[in-house]
Amino acid sequence: MIDFKIKVVDKLEELKLDISREEIISLIEIPPESSMGDYAFPVFKFAKTFKKAPNLIAEELAGKLTKGEFFSNIVNTGPYINFFVNNELLTKEVLEGVLNNKKFGSKNIGLGKTAIVEFSSTNIAKPFHIGHLRSTVIGNSINNILKYQDYNTVAINYIGDYGTQFGMMISAYKKWGSKEIIDRDPINGLLDLYVRYNKEAKENEVLMDEARYWFDRLEKKDKEALELWQWFKDISLKEFNRVYELLGVKFDNYNGEAYHSQFMGEVIKELEEKNLLKESEGAIIVDLEKYDLPPVLIKKSNGSSTYITRDIATAIYRKKTYDFYKNNYVVASQQRLHFQQLVAVLKEMGYEWADDCVHVSFGMVSMKDGAMKTREGKVIFLEEVLNQAISKTNEIIENRNPDLENKEKVAKEIGVGAIIFQDLFNNRIKDYVFDWDQVLNFDGETGPYVQYANARASSILNKVNFQVEENVDYTLLKEEEEIAIIKILDNFSNVLENAANKLEPSFVTRYSVELAKAFNRFYNSCPISSAEENLKSARLLLTYATKVVLTTSLNLLGIAAPEKM
Ligand code: ARG
Repeated sequence: MIDFKIKVVDKLEELKLDISREEIISLIEIPPESSMGDYAFPVFKFAKTFKKAPNLIAEELAGKLTKGEFFSNIVNTGPYINFFVNNELLTKEVLEGVLNNKKFGSKNIGLGKTAIVEFSSTNIAKPFHIGHLRSTVIGNSINNILKYQDYNTVAINYIGDYGTQFGMMISAYKKWGSKEIIDRDPINGLLDLYVRYNKEAKENEVLMDEARYWFDRLEKKDKEALELWQWFKDISLKEFNRVYELLGVKFDNYNGEAYHSQFMGEVIKELEEKNLLKESEGAIIVDLEKYDLPPVLIKKSNGSSTYITRDIATAIYRKKTYDFYKNNYVVASQQRLHFQQLVAVLKEMGYEWADDCVHVSFGMVSMKDGAMKTREGKVIFLEEVLNQAISKTNEIIENRNPDLENKEKVAKEIGVGAIIFQDLFNNRIKDYVFDWDQVLNFDGETGPYVQYANARASSILNKVNFQVEENVDYTLLKEEEEIAIIKILDNFSNVLENAANKLEPSFVTRYSVELAKAFNRFYNSCPISSAEENLKSARLLLTYATKVVLTTSLNLLGIAAPEKM
């Protein structure tokens, strides 16, 4: 596809100014209003050389440039040279681009590179909470966005299935547990045991010794300890998988903390050989003073392994196994220090790839008016929220469109999509407030709004049994609303590239709203079925291209794009 920005640079180079290509690129701006052109180049820089007012310089330079095939006009506005793209050419480029590319908008920047996306990383025997939802939704979208750029991605759920707390769990279960209760409500059953154990351990020190004893047996692969642990894990994952299914999220593997604990011995040996270990009050640490970070605890004084030691082992294992280009951790911002320490230790160990381990952090969610209050911890919080979104959507459908086919499936796609969309709407690092009124508003900047625009485009196309035709006359698309869509479609590849480089799904979310709005404006002011035949064909093609890009955007966010709603 033609990159018009590059054409602007080529044009400016014709002026033989004393400035490099790179600098030209960095100076080019997008004017705030389309009446001022598509690209603008400020000339302030040349005031000294030309010894003239910037306005006059811009006028003189613009006068020297011919439009050529790529531009419809080049003029100055004040101190800027403004470039107006040849819209006929742009329209042809964009529409043919959509028709001829399986992955319209991909720049294939990930070709030949492996990107690990670690996300969700729920903890066994603990509830799947809203923070894990954010990790799941953000990570899944990042994984999709990178894949679309031809990265070879590995989606890993780094399950929290190891650590001293499992000693407590086992010991608690052996004291007070009942298989029947746990089977009935696994997560809450296990959670109750854990809470009780912690509480009683405060009064009775023996309990802590017993927990340590059981964790030690687990670390030594004792049969009884291992069997109980495996059972806790199986029933917890079964619960979590229901949520993953609702969200439509899949992982390439679930290699979590326990899996990598097998390599901890090697890592500790390596740290020792590299002279990085120190003793401190009976524990073993790595000092990170030169990074201005607190020391890292490698082994507790009782000999137990730690969270960070498993992460060091995991990073090294992943480098060996996948030779990653980037190893991305989609984890809440509370763990910032942990990942700074992880990278610092890897640097100390001499791994030049340490900085390729990236903490993709995100902010917290709070609830408006206790929007997600539940019956005192007796449910999996998150699943409840998703189901509530689905049933609220059901009600809306019953009101708006009671004869809709596949009502249940669509309600699920809209309800779950609405939650995902809201979560991906703001920059991931921002905290946000969960608000039901906002989530399911069909007219706001929401998932249902974008899905609805997409369904509207589908229904226009289905009504005429749309087939891609040869010889559509693109030049008939001249209305402002039509050109506006073309320009947004043209921008898709830049948005996707930025989203991939910044690991920021919100760029795609915002983009999809912009496109949906532009499409609704077009739909309201440019008649399709009553238009003259050739114009009708051109408008249908524009509708088709919009639909392809809306569907792609939603899918990259991990949201379904129902044809009817
Ligand atoms: N399971 C952890 C938690 O729920 C998150 C794991 C983050 N990933 C990592 N490699 N440490 O807090």
